[in-house]
Amino acid sequence: MADKLIIFDTTLRDGEQSPGASMTKDEKLRIARQLERLKVDVIEAGFAASSNGDFECVKAIAHAIKDSTICSLARANDRDISRAAEALKGGHSTRIHLFLATSALHMEKKLRMTPDQVFEQARLSTRFARNLSGDVEFSPEDGYRSDPDFLCRVLEAVINEGATTINVPDTVGYAIPELYGNFILNLRQRIPNADKAVWSVHCHNDLGMAVANSLAGVMIGGARQVECTINGLGERAGNCSLEEVVMAVKTRRDYFKLDLGIDTTQIVPISRLVAQTTGFVVQPNKAVVGANAFAHASGIHQDGVLKARDTYEIMRAEDVGWAANKIVLGKLSGRNAFKMRLTELGIQMESEAEINAAFAKFKELADRKSDIFDEDILALVMDESLTAEHEHYRFVALSQHSETGERPHASVTFAAGEVEHQAQSDGNGPVDASLKAIESKLATGAEMLLYSVNAITSGSTESQGEVTVRLQHGGRVVNGVGSDPDIVVASAKAYLSALNKLHSKIERVAAQG
Ligand code: KIV
Ligand code: ZN
Repeated sequence: MADKLIIFDTTLRDGEQSPGASMTKDEKLRIARQLERLKVDVIEAGFAASSNGDFECVKAIAHAIKDSTICSLARANDRDISRAAEALKGGHSTRIHLFLATSALHMEKKLRMTPDQVFEQARLSTRFARNLSGDVEFSPEDGYRSDPDFLCRVLEAVINEGATTINVPDTVGYAIPELYGNFILNLRQRIPNADKAVWSVHCHNDLGMAVANSLAGVMIGGARQVECTINGLGERAGNCSLEEVVMAVKTRRDYFKLDLGIDTTQIVPISRLVAQTTGFVVQPNKAVVGANAFAHASGIHQDGVLKARDTYEIMRAEDVGWAANKIVLGKLSGRNAFKMRLTELGIQMESEAEINAAFAKFKELADRKSDIFDEDILALVMDESLTAEHEHYRFVALSQHSETGERPHASVTFAAGEVEHQAQSDGNGPVDASLKAIESKLATGAEMLLYSVNAITSGSTESQGEVTVRLQHGGRVVNGVGSDPDIVVASAKAYLSALNKLHSKIERVAAQG
């Protein structure tokens, strides 16, 4: 029987550390449920000690998910570890993931600790964690840039204290596949009790090699767990991309000879969900999940694929969940059909009132747009107007006028708390005018870092527009997403959604790793 490769997803923890990707508890729960459908082995749900919000997210996910192990990150100190254990309490299968930096640079400049102090802290905190959980992962942060002799000493000690998984992060994305693979192999060969733990890889993508490095860690180094995120989401250039690692191992099973528990048909749905939730759109030529990943434009390729699919295709689109522009519902669909589709998409609504509100929005959309696709439904449930009562700023209405040779003008009505405002402005274009109108009333002073528009479904101008707005204010960066068949309205919704995130003041400690 082949070895199993454990897939550890950290979209909700390391992925969330991307600028502006912070998610609410409901959004995280929705993604966790979809990760469970994807059958990932471990879900890193957050960093419980980093904020009360993250604590609640880890707790809710640990209670809701039964088929994947739920993990919380913790710094290697008693307080963080106790918080993680408390958040995970009552979960079906749980893990505490400790980290402590071991590179000379991090120990000296960041931790201001001597190697001996780091050694002791690693050992004692692992012991403390093992008293609270039977499943403990230890990560030497910046492990790949650490002195191998020191690393061997620390890792041997934490395995002796009961660490069940040893993860070797390339925290800054500095590794080269062959070197990283050999680095792990060397550790495993030198550490006498190495076989008492599962070895894991955790690679960042700064040099574009996170997937290659992870796979080298598996094939050369003998690691049997890969840490990764959906769409490669993560700080800077991101983390190792789950879909790429999984499809490489599955497609080239002849070489890897490893089993996976993943249901690959769930890859595209979760990729879309993560993109729509975080506002980090997927580039069209991204492997596996990009819109062009299975599109053949050249005549020679099209001809070849029509004659024999495997002339130019190494994977089948349907195996990763591409169901090309499937019309799922329309104007005549009833509440039950809508509810069933929500369930099929893994969307669980908290109450009947929420389903009713979503169904009313669906009817409104179906009146304006004849064919409703899965992507439209996802966008609709993401729409903050569904949870309007929880939001401070709410879009109400918009009118705008633009004509060749004239300066566009917009009038936007929106609510801020209990007060309804109407604001007017002109601008370079209707979108600019609408956002300036909102800003003229609220004077938030937020700086716009990004504005992007995408069609939710490809192939037609009838598609809804999905707008992402990234704002920066007071040292915080947030993404807002809005969708509507009218892209000016989608833009105003996205702007208000970003302002809501700034308003909600999600607190967290400094990002890690
Ligand atoms: O990149 C990193 O070092 C991390 C650790 C916290 C595991 O994310
Ligand atoms: Zn990381």
